[in-house]
Amino acid sequence: MKKPRYPFGTITITEKTKKLMKRILDTGMVSGGKHVREFENRFAELIGTKEAIALSSGTDADALALAVFYDFGAQRNDEIIVPALSFAATGNAVLQSGFKPVFVDIERKTLNVDPSRIEERITEKTRAIMPVHLMGKPAEMDEINKIAKKYNLYVIEDAAEAQSALYKGKNIGTLGDMSAFSLYIAHIISTIEGGIITTNNSEFAEILRSLRAHGRACKCKTCVLNVNSRYCSKRFKYNTDVRFIFERIGFSAKMNELEAAVGLGYLGIYPEIFKKRKQNFLYIREKFRKFTPYLVTINPKPYEEMAPYAFPIILQEGTKFTRDELVAYLEKNGIDTRSLFLSMPTQCPGFKFLGYKLGDFPEAEYIGNNGLHIGVHQDITKEHIDYFIALVEKFLEEYQ
Ligand SMILES: Cc1ncc(COP(=O)(O)O)c(C=O)c1O
Repeated sequence: MKKPRYPFGTITITEKTKKLMKRILDTGMVSGGKHVREFENRFAELIGTKEAIALSSGTDADALALAVFYDFGAQRNDEIIVPALSFAATGNAVLQSGFKPVFVDIERKTLNVDPSRIEERITEKTRAIMPVHLMGKPAEMDEINKIAKKYNLYVIEDAAEAQSALYKGKNIGTLGDMSAFSLYIAHIISTIEGGIITTNNSEFAEILRSLRAHGRACKCKTCVLNVNSRYCSKRFKYNTDVRFIFERIGFSAKMNELEAAVGLGYLGIYPEIFKKRKQNFLYIREKFRKFTPYLVTINPKPYEEMAPYAFPIILQEGTKFTRDELVAYLEKNGIDTRSLFLSMPTQCPGFKFLGYKLGDFPEAEYIGNNGLHIGVHQDITKEHIDYFIALVEKFLEEYQ
C-alpha cells in the first residue's frame, strides 16, 4: 500500500492574504486596526450576529466571554456549568476568568453535555452554562436555553469546533448570549492563532473590547488611533488619558493585523473550503459505516448540520484492541490522529485540586479512553481517505 501522509490540520494562505500582509508590513501598522475590524464585521455577517470581537485565541474567547459577567454582579468563584468532556481549554478558561467550573457528564452518542443532568448541578452560585459543540456537533441548545431561562443564567456557546454548524435551521454562534470560536490552524476558518466572540448584545461587545485590552476605558468600536489619524478627541476628555484608565480586570488578548489578513483570505474562499471539508466528512462517514461492530462515529440529529471540523472515532465496548493500539498503527502508517479529549475533572491532572474522582463522569471517561479524531480538511483528498479506510480494514483483520 502506498503511504500518503495524512495530516490533522492545514493552513491555507491565499494570494489575497500575501498581498495584504505585504501592504500591512510596508505601512508598519500591524497592531489591531482596520483589517481586524473588517474581519470582525465579515465574521459577524457570516454567523448572523450584530457584533464580533476578534481575540488572540479561542481560549481567550471562552475566558473573556465569562469575564463580562463581572460587570453584571458575578463574583469571583461563582460557578459555570461545563461538560466534563472537552479540550482542556474549556475548563482552563473558566478558571482563568476567575470562576469555578462545575462539570456535567456527556452523552456518549452526542459527545455533548447531557441536558438531563444540568439542573442537579445548579446552585445559588451558578452564573452561566457553557455547552461545547464538540466535533462540530451542536449541543441540545433548546433544552439548555430553557434551563438557563428557568434559573436566570447566561449561556455561552463554546463553538470553537463548530463554525458553520446549524441547529434547527439557525447558525451555531447565534444561540446563546455570546459564542466563542477558535481560529486556530485546524479550524474551518483560521487566523493561524486566534479566536472570536459573536454576540447580538452591543453592551457585551463594548465590555469585550475593553477586556481584550487590559480592561481599559478605551473601547470604541472604531479606533482612530490605529488607523491613519493619530488624534483621538475622546482621549483626554476626562483630563487624564482614557487609555490609562482601567475599568475592570482585563486580559491582553488582541488580534493583530497580520492574523486578520489570514482570516480575510479564508473568508474569501470559505465556500470552497466548506464544500471540500463537507465532501470529505460525508465520504469518510459513508465508508466508515462498515466498521460499526467495532468502531463508530457520531451522527447529527435530523434537525442538525454538523460542522465538517474533524472525524471522530469511538471504539465500541468489547473490542479486542485498545484505542492506543489503533492510534499507534495509524500513526506508524502516516495518519495524524488526536485523542477525543479527556474527562477534564478526572483524567486531566491539572484539575485534580477540584476534588473529583475517577468514575464520577463515566461517559466522558469512556471517550477519554476510547476516542480519537482525524482531519477532514481541504488538503485531504479522496485518495487519503481510501488509504485510511484500507488501513483500518487491515488493522481490524490483524487485531480483532
Ligand atoms: C472545544 C474547544 N474549546 C476551546 C478551544 C481553544 O481554542 P484555542 O486553541 O484557539 O485557544 C479549542 C481548541 O481547539 C476547543 O477545541
